[in-house]
Amino acid sequence: MKRRTAILISGRGSNMAALIAAARDPAYPAEVVLVVSNRPDAPGLALARDAGVAATAIDHRPFKGDRAAHEAAIQTALRDAGVEIVCLAGYLRLLTPLLVDAWQGRMLNIHPSLLPAFPGLDTHARALAAGVKLHGCTVHLVTQAVDEGPILAQAAVPVLPGDTAAMLAERVLVQEHRLYPVALQNMAEGREGLPASREAALLNPGPRPADA
Ligand code: GRF
Repeated sequence: MKRRTAILISGRGSNMAALIAAARDPAYPAEVVLVVSNRPDAPGLALARDAGVAATAIDHRPFKGDRAAHEAAIQTALRDAGVEIVCLAGYLRLLTPLLVDAWQGRMLNIHPSLLPAFPGLDTHARALAAGVKLHGCTVHLVTQAVDEGPILAQAAVPVLPGDTAAMLAERVLVQEHRLYPVALQNMAEGREGLPASREAALLNPGPRPADA
């Protein structure tokens, strides 16, 4: 039985699309049964519907700052859909204990840095400013402390000379789309403690072609 999974988004939805694509494989242990966006204009909603996945907007604005009431509406939608695992994928709202506690150990997030480095926003620009030579992405369990939950999987990319934040973001995003489906697979199979894959690490600088 595939584990019933929901994805919470706020925007583009490229990680959501990667999860939906992975879940199409009959052998994949999770199915995406619902996508929820807090923004009715999120492009990811149309992407999900085009892929045949139920997608709904639960706009936070009518709740006028009552975060718990907004989350209660989301929680009702998740329960109604029989959801077992929740993936945050570019969901740009701080969560309250209502959702965090309800989904403890069963809610994942993807963050565009090698946590614990660069929690929060503008991770790529901050990585460039810090001069790190490796950057990447992390899938972690969601806890009340933002970007601090137990790390489930990471993928690294090199920071290259001349990189802009946009170039680095693009390189990281390729790995996000590989990593998140693997992390969800591990979670759905009850193997969340295992590393994502043996290939998910790079060294920078790597060997020059002549030395390789
Ligand atoms: C991704 O970089 C993700 O790591 C971060 O927000 C971005 C969402 O992009 N949490 P998308 O909506 O999945 O395309």
